[in-house]
Amino acid sequence: MKTPDNTSAPLPVNDNITSGENLSVWFAEVNRSISYESLTSDIDTDILVIGGGISGLTTAYCLAKVGRKVVLVEDGFIGSGESGRTTAHITYVLGERYFELEKIYDEPTAQLAADSHAEAIEWIANTVKLNNIDCHFKRVDGYLFLHPSDTKETLEKEYEATKRAGLATEMLNAVPGIEAEDGKWCIKFPNQAQFHILLYLKGLAEAFKQLGGKIYTQTKAENITKDGATVNGFAVKANHIVVATNTPINDWVTIHTKQWPYRTYVVGAKVPKGKLPYALWWDTGDKGSKWVSQPYHYVRLAEYDDQHDILIAGGEDHRTGQADEEGIKEEDRYTKLIAWTKKRFPSVEDVVFQWSGQVMEPVDSMAYIGKNPGDDNIYIITGHSGNGMTHGTLGGIMITDIITGKDNPWIEMYSPSRITLKTTSDYLQEVGNMVAQYGDWFAGTDLKKVEDLKPGEGGIMSSGFKKITVYCDEENNLHTCTAVCPHLGAILQWNADEKTFDCPMHGSRFNTEGKALNGPTTSDLKKL
Ligand SMILES: Cc1cc2nc3c(=O)[nH]c(=O)nc-3n(C[C@H](O)[C@H](O)[C@H](O)COP(=O)(O)OP(=O)(O)OC[C@H]3O[C@@H](n4cnc5c(N)ncnc54)[C@H](O)[C@@H]3O)c2cc1C
Ligand code: FES
Repeated sequence: MKTPDNTSAPLPVNDNITSGENLSVWFAEVNRSISYESLTSDIDTDILVIGGGISGLTTAYCLAKVGRKVVLVEDGFIGSGESGRTTAHITYVLGERYFELEKIYDEPTAQLAADSHAEAIEWIANTVKLNNIDCHFKRVDGYLFLHPSDTKETLEKEYEATKRAGLATEMLNAVPGIEAEDGKWCIKFPNQAQFHILLYLKGLAEAFKQLGGKIYTQTKAENITKDGATVNGFAVKANHIVVATNTPINDWVTIHTKQWPYRTYVVGAKVPKGKLPYALWWDTGDKGSKWVSQPYHYVRLAEYDDQHDILIAGGEDHRTGQADEEGIKEEDRYTKLIAWTKKRFPSVEDVVFQWSGQVMEPVDSMAYIGKNPGDDNIYIITGHSGNGMTHGTLGGIMITDIITGKDNPWIEMYSPSRITLKTTSDYLQEVGNMVAQYGDWFAGTDLKKVEDLKPGEGGIMSSGFKKITVYCDEENNLHTCTAVCPHLGAILQWNADEKTFDCPMHGSRFNTEGKALNGPTTSDLKKL
């Protein structure tokens, strides 16, 4: 793998191929956007899939494979959403512990969840083989070890629960590859997997096209109804519409009160080949965190060049747009992450990549896959948490089964309409957090006058009763828009790391000129 100029320097910033300023390690090998033609006329199809990440592409491929006529539209390029920013652990180690799933649901459901993720891993392995996708797919072991704020009891309870869920886990008294003192005990999860996500998506897109599927990139869908959608201004009529946009676009309020956006950070550091095994590592998460979804660290190795691998370490999450509430700005989270990584993996050398991304955390730990609440032929795949590789794959398998009327044991468990009473306190805390964001209408702003901005900087300013986004570009021109989120009216926050304006409510994000990068909204900000 090489960076575009064949040096080990970080990649050039925003090439307009992803939803922020920083590029992930995956773009180093793929280098340019994975693109197809754009839509330029009205069309009719059986199934319209919106979104060219792992969820949308897997769904499109599965449906084409059973002979359906499928069109996939993507407003950026293949993988230009969160799939291009992932760390691509493919695992049945979930963000929530299995003993917690037993409490929120019950033992059989925890077992069903384990089965579903294990089958998703198997499905990816088979698909890679069937289509000869060269994406560095490999089976690796995974190790869950203690965060310093946690106790061994957590691992013991989890070990017992994984056994009840039918998993072939082992308790070890050292963590392979980790030297620091807090890596004493761990649970080994054998036969997990990893790959290069963009090479995988590229292979899947080609396989879908060979089955007769159509892909349109730089093609934006809006105004979704049961008859189809408006796409690049043209009418696309469809019998079924699958919304695989990470968080559903449109104002479907029900789903936006069941999941919350978190930002998470990643660094990639060179490590001499052979120093570390290819494996996945996670800690059990920060028990002292103020966030409902307690941030954990996640680490893996990826091929880089002849002498080096890249150690990819992630974590330091916070609710989107609320980094300041912990007194650590977005851009400073990398410093913490690098220190954490160097302590546990002292063989790492230069840090050559850093980027962040957004994950949707469901209130009750499971993704939402199935019919959008209240709709019969509109489907959503969302709420992936940190398990979007398997959840996105399950989305493709399950939506295909629902559309074709095939029995599937996981449909009820992942239903977007499910009600889980046992998570009431987390729900109330997150909803309280959401409502509190409206307080920003009356709060002061960080930026007092535009003269304080240097080229490349932005912020939110008050002007009378109005709040406005201000960005000063490299040529010293100011760009100003309303800072009111077009979704449901929260005040946006400046993210100096990715150079975006982020909504603290449901995670809509905008570039420096007000263009919508992430849903739920599809509307750009009004320019002032
Ligand atoms: C830093 C980070 C690390 C992660 N690590 C892991 C991991 O190790 N393992 C794991 O399993 N998961 C991980 N995840 C989660 C996982 O990456 C995501 O859940 C998953 O990639 C989401 O895939 P998706 O296809 O649903 O969404 P996306 O990949 O975001 O795809 C949605 C697509 O829809 C497009 N779109 C949006 N609006 C429109 C519109 N109006 N019209 C047309 N197209 C539109 C977007 O451009 C985008 O390309 C991680 C996430 C992050 C951010
Ligand atoms: S994303 Fe819902 S109010 Fe901004």
